[in-house]
Amino acid sequence: MSTKRTDALRVAVLASGRGSNLQAVIDAIDAGTLQAKIVAVISNKQEAPALERARQHGLPGLFVNPKPYAGRPDSREAYDRELLDVLRRHDVELVLLAGYMKIVTTVLVEAFANRMMNIHPSLLPSFPGLDVQKKAIEWGCKLAGCTVHFVTEGVDEGPIILQAAVPILDEDTPNTLAARILEQEHKIYPRAVQLFAEGRLRIEGHRVFIEAGKPEGEAVISPS
Ligand code: GAR
Repeated sequence: MSTKRTDALRVAVLASGRGSNLQAVIDAIDAGTLQAKIVAVISNKQEAPALERARQHGLPGLFVNPKPYAGRPDSREAYDRELLDVLRRHDVELVLLAGYMKIVTTVLVEAFANRMMNIHPSLLPSFPGLDVQKKAIEWGCKLAGCTVHFVTEGVDEGPIILQAAVPILDEDTPNTLAARILEQEHKIYPRAVQLFAEGRLRIEGHRVFIEAGKPEGEAVISPS
């Protein structure tokens, strides 16, 4: 059953690159279509434009350096333990991977089980990984798209929350297709976060069910 929150959902965004999905989340919050608060933007890349975007919006943009852990057999886990500390210090409720190009380990996956989402520019489970728009064209797919999913152990894997499909046109290049997919990413990511904020996502195995929202102003009968 959906539960109405009175406070804003505390979200952290992990990003390695330009941060257009981060921007879409910021814009949805500003527009009032997403009841959430970004409490931290974290990157593994010091020069990530996403960090600059965050700071321009008055949000904490934090670089967490992976270098000190390089070469250790547990380098990924050790890095994720540091990330986990940062996330806990900021009382984060939901983690959003938004172009975060580093594999997350069980350290984060377990700590944020069913509380970490990723966006990926393909119709998963087809084409996880990199260069996926090029692969979709080369395979002769007629439809491409994007997926928001909860994060589990595998790369670009986990219960699917929302997808949007985009036709592949004869004249498409990986870049033109990526641009059309990106427009859809910017719509479905904030929407998925809002559904989470409204407590409307129910996970059963690999499936995510979206529960009906309560109409505004519906009476609350206590005890129900
Ligand atoms: C987006 O297209 C996102 O779907 C993709 O990286 C891009 C980041 O763009 N993520 C993945 O491929 C995850 N496997 P952005 O930095 O502008 O949001």
